[in-house]
Amino acid sequence: MNYEYRQGRFCVEAVDLAAVADQCGTPTYVYSAGMIRERYQAYANAFKGISHRICYAVKANSNLAVLAVLARQGAGFDIVSGGELYRVLRAGGNAANVVFSGVGKSVAEIEYALEQGVHSFNCESYAEIEVLNRVAGLAGKTASIALRVNPDVNPVTHEYISTGLRENKFGIDMSVIESAYEHAASQPHLKVTGVSCHIGSQMLDSAPMVEAVERLIALTLRLKAKGLPIDHLDLGGGLGVKYEPQEETPSIASAVAAMRKLVDQTGLEAVVEPGRSIVAEAGVLLTRVLYRKNNGGKEFVIVDAAMNDLIRPSLYKAFHEITPLLEKDTPLQEVDIVGPVCESGDWLAKKRTLPTLESGDLLAVKTAGAYGFGMASNYNSRGRAAEVLVDGDNFRVVRERESWQDLIRGESA
Ligand code: LLP
Repeated sequence: MNYEYRQGRFCVEAVDLAAVADQCGTPTYVYSAGMIRERYQAYANAFKGISHRICYAVKANSNLAVLAVLARQGAGFDIVSGGELYRVLRAGGNAANVVFSGVGKSVAEIEYALEQGVHSFNCESYAEIEVLNRVAGLAGKTASIALRVNPDVNPVTHEYISTGLRENKFGIDMSVIESAYEHAASQPHLKVTGVSCHIGSQMLDSAPMVEAVERLIALTLRLKAKGLPIDHLDLGGGLGVKYEPQEETPSIASAVAAMRKLVDQTGLEAVVEPGRSIVAEAGVLLTRVLYRKNNGGKEFVIVDAAMNDLIRPSLYKAFHEITPLLEKDTPLQEVDIVGPVCESGDWLAKKRTLPTLESGDLLAVKTAGAYGFGMASNYNSRGRAAEVLVDGDNFRVVRERESWQDLIRGESA
């Protein structure tokens, strides 16, 4: 299952995307339920035979319909806020299958997570150990926790999404991790059950993940020798996807197999927190060409999607392939594809060679299912895009386009 041209029309599953754009307008995000299920099942198959928990990282795409597709597959969820937990529950997810990550959990968020009975907290600092213990005590509960280790492994990715290096704000330093575990284990309202890490995102090689797993397992053995009841290893997310045609990335099966070589022998439950590798390729952003212009000898294609809809190019200089919804055989031309927002940083593609485009043409920005809508904003008072879920030959709007009234909700003059 994939996005592909059929008789010159760009389709996914049994749906023609130009029909979606005509019916729902643009910009619109489209997600393929079938592709999401396929990616989730690739993880489930790869872990067959050992105890495991696949906790989809909600931040990658938190639309209720996407979460519901995954909940129906039996997925667990990795959350980083009370809002994400609320979404998971509203989508039919089970709190007992949720891990709560993040460096800055508030007291209110911890209370809510305890009340709902999340499976485990991935705790990131001494200070958080204190707060978790106090809040659990006041709630009359015992919180199951893993400490998030900062294994000091270079994930070889964009500096903004590297999390496993010593200088990053994440996790607890290897040099103090054992004393942090002893400290946590001595707290009356905490039960220390896991070891966790997440070293970065969009990793195109499994070697750094394997190196982190090695360090985690060595640590786990030392902790078990001290009598700590460690029963799970949370390996985080981070597997990359192919944004550029020439990029190579390990398949889900091979990345998991590489980690299983080490994990299987431990007898521990394996937890993973994949986000991007489940939803990125399942999504596209549909946009329409508004204007053409030439400035200083440069060709610009101005489209109706902008950095407020998809910030990845502006923020990370990320590459997203762009393709017309109706195949064109007009002469090739090198263009910059830009949005209407008033910043020169508002671009979706630079120096891209495409068939000559004209006003009204429809385009798909590919591999936009992860960190697309979720990072969208209302900058320039632009309503956020509609979201559509395709399933077989059916498609439906799963989030309406924001209106001008939506833009001022809660404001007063
Ligand atoms: N677990 C934790 C604790 C995380 O912080 C993340 C992502 C994940 C799991 C999921 O990682 P994934 O499998 O999706 O790589 N906005 C950036 C990506 C930020 C990733 C943040 N953490 C982007 O658009 O590339």
